[in-house]
Amino acid sequence: MTARPRIVLTRRWTAEVERYLAERFEVTLNEADVPMGADALCRAMSQHDAICPTVTDRIDRQVLSAPDRRVKLIGNFGVGFNHIDVDTARELGIRVSNTPDVLTEATADLAILLLLMVTRRAGEGERELRGGRWIGWRPTHLMGQSLEGKRLGLIGFGRIAQATARKAHAAFGMRIAYNSRRRVAHAIEAECKAEFIDSVDELVATCDVVSLHCPGGAATHHLIDAERLRRMPRHAVLINTARGSVVDEAALAAALAERRIAGAGLDVYEEEPKVHPGLMNLDNAVLLPHLGSATQETRTAMGMRVAENLEAFFGGKPLRDPVV
Ligand code: 8YV
Repeated sequence: MTARPRIVLTRRWTAEVERYLAERFEVTLNEADVPMGADALCRAMSQHDAICPTVTDRIDRQVLSAPDRRVKLIGNFGVGFNHIDVDTARELGIRVSNTPDVLTEATADLAILLLLMVTRRAGEGERELRGGRWIGWRPTHLMGQSLEGKRLGLIGFGRIAQATARKAHAAFGMRIAYNSRRRVAHAIEAECKAEFIDSVDELVATCDVVSLHCPGGAATHHLIDAERLRRMPRHAVLINTARGSVVDEAALAAALAERRIAGAGLDVYEEEPKVHPGLMNLDNAVLLPHLGSATQETRTAMGMRVAENLEAFFGGKPLRDPVV
């Protein structure tokens, strides 16, 4: 009997998926469920056939070049893979897979949650009530902004952006505009009457809400910087469920503090789990701890999608979700 492939999960996954994997592979779990540092990752690379990392792991050149590396597949738990040096992986002949599709609706739901929380000032209201400062109903108390007929500008127009557009258009009657590297004739464009805007500068200047859905990485680093924040109208709102690096957090904190934009809803940060201190006490910022895909169903589906890629790879079949 041939030995079962050895795989390592860098964080705890749902019990259902851990059980499924244990029946098929020799699985190493990170029982403490704290991020593994570079040394632990290098050791894991030399002791396993596949590593299954998450956004909290830095799979850089040093880790990929670990002495006596045995890993041949990186089965990433998540759709975004900017924490993996894919160029070096390619160079070293290490395959990489991710988990698209299964987290689309959950992440789009979270973008909508932030959109509502910011425009209806839900975080402020909850803090006021819990803080014992609510003095009762009055016509001008915590007035927010309505969404109907407002223009939602999406930057990046992949699966999650399209799902967000569909929900915002169907549920709230928002008008949809988007910017992406190239215009594609998506069915969703017709369904939402989405308008393609070929400049980010124009998009941010003409939308009531800007929602970020582009990948992280060098090409999008600080795409939303002080200058673009200045272009946004004063009543506008910024939503980020993509990657923290897309926004210059210090510039955003300044724009919010000076009320140059009305609010922001963030689920991702430049140096997670650190959050720029300037954002922490702002009443017009809603701050969530990277919950985009955090439903029981979605996290299990993500794990099962990694399992599909592992089984394909070790069964000699093409990867379901090849990144490299
Ligand atoms: C994941 C995400 O939970 O999939 C992604 O890219 O941002 C999250 O929803 C996280 O990245 C897990 O690695």
